[in-house]
Amino acid sequence: FDLDAFVAGLPKAELHLHIEGSLEPELMFELARRNGITLPFASVEAIRAAYAFSNLQDFLDIYYQGAGVLQTERDFHDLAMAYFTRLNADGGRHAEIFFDPQTHTDRGIPFSVVADGLLAGMAQAEREFGISSKLILCFLRHLDEEAAFATLKAAEPYLNRITGVGLDSSEVGHPPAKFERVFKAAGERGLLKVAHAGEEGPPEYVWEALDRLRVDRIDHGNRSLEDAALTARLAAQEMTLTVCPLSNLKLCVVNDMTAHPLKRMLDLGLKATVNSDDPAYFGGYLNANFVAVAKGVGLSRADLATLARNSFTGSFLDEEQVALRL
Ligand code: ADE
Ligand code: ZN
Repeated sequence: FDLDAFVAGLPKAELHLHIEGSLEPELMFELARRNGITLPFASVEAIRAAYAFSNLQDFLDIYYQGAGVLQTERDFHDLAMAYFTRLNADGGRHAEIFFDPQTHTDRGIPFSVVADGLLAGMAQAEREFGISSKLILCFLRHLDEEAAFATLKAAEPYLNRITGVGLDSSEVGHPPAKFERVFKAAGERGLLKVAHAGEEGPPEYVWEALDRLRVDRIDHGNRSLEDAALTARLAAQEMTLTVCPLSNLKLCVVNDMTAHPLKRMLDLGLKATVNSDDPAYFGGYLNANFVAVAKGVGLSRADLATLARNSFTGSFLDEEQVALRL
């Protein structure tokens, strides 16, 4: 069958997308010029050439540096619209986007500038493309619990427009339990909860995300497959995993796409989804992720349809909204 056309024609939602990771080098240059910032790269090509990573931290270092060009509400609005334009071209109907407020507030950009810009982009995407979206505030796990609490406080005026909290950045050495209290506080404010777990970290971190953070979804979850009791638990609970194939390849979580665990996840009855994570850095948006992993591990049309369906049933849309989009 025509894989590209089949994937393009599936209604899809994206559940694991860091908006700062959708900053393409072209827009990075434009924002640098607009804001009077000198980039340490001579050209778009030189930036792309620097995107060779051997692990998560390698990537994070360059990703946080790139985010430095984002200064104004308009910058965040433009960033969001650039992403939604790509999602629309891929046939995406809904997105739940992560943002990392601490990356910006720590360099003096007010929380409101970030949130107002992203929310304006989300509203424009709904009007122009009919794409719905939700916002998930991620705490940077390499920073301490106190900083996460300060971020939750800064978000207070926006909590009616923020759907959930997440946990990202350097995983190993920063277990979910470090953020148990701030996740509890977020839950008490009515926020849903997700966490990156089992990307580089061990299966124990996935157990902690489930039992101590009480998450509604697991982001990545790859290393869950090392623990049969854990995969049984995830399957029984119908826990959604937001899997990111091209990210896994570029960050050396898998050595080759033929070794990607997605097919095994489906065969174990896990509720997996396909996502792009940081598409500007990993070389492909939503459909490119579907196609790459489908070729790598040999997914059937039924598998692809299941993955696309899971992206809606695993989303934070209510049942009626899901039914309208399927
Ligand atoms: N921040 C952006 N992308 C990330 C990833 N794949 N893992 C952890 N933190 C991230
Ligand atoms: Zn991620």
